[in-house]
Amino acid sequence: MKKFQLIAIIISSLGILIACGPKTTTDTSAKGLSKKYCENCHGNEIKELGLSKDEILKVIKNGDKGMEANILKGEDAEKVAEYLSK
Ligand code: HEC
Repeated sequence: MKKFQLIAIIISSLGILIACGPKTTTDTSAKGLSKKYCENCHGNEIKELGLSKDEILKVIKNGDKGMEANILKGEDAEKVAEYLSK
């Protein structure tokens, strides 16, 4: 095998390692939070409902049938509600 091919393989596997690394566990962006706290039950459905930020925030605070209240609080709840609203 030519040397440069080996180097190319090493570089591309490093890229994959970085892309799939532990980054996701510390993702506190709205997208990351929603993935961690909402998508396991809802998938993409909430965005598609086209609710307003306030409506979503109310559900996060009060819960719904089968959904616990206060899964997220304060700033995090706000961020996610904003992200998932229309
Ligand atoms: C343990 C599973 C679970 C998790 C986690 C969860 N939900 Fe829910 N959620 C439900 C269930 C069950 C309902 C009631 C479903 C229904 O009425 O169709 C619901 C209802 C809702 C509704 C009202 C939807 C409607 O049809 O009126 C919203 C908005 C919502 N959830 C947002 C969120 C957000 C935002 C998060 C993350 C912070 C979240 N949910 C996390 C289970 C969950």
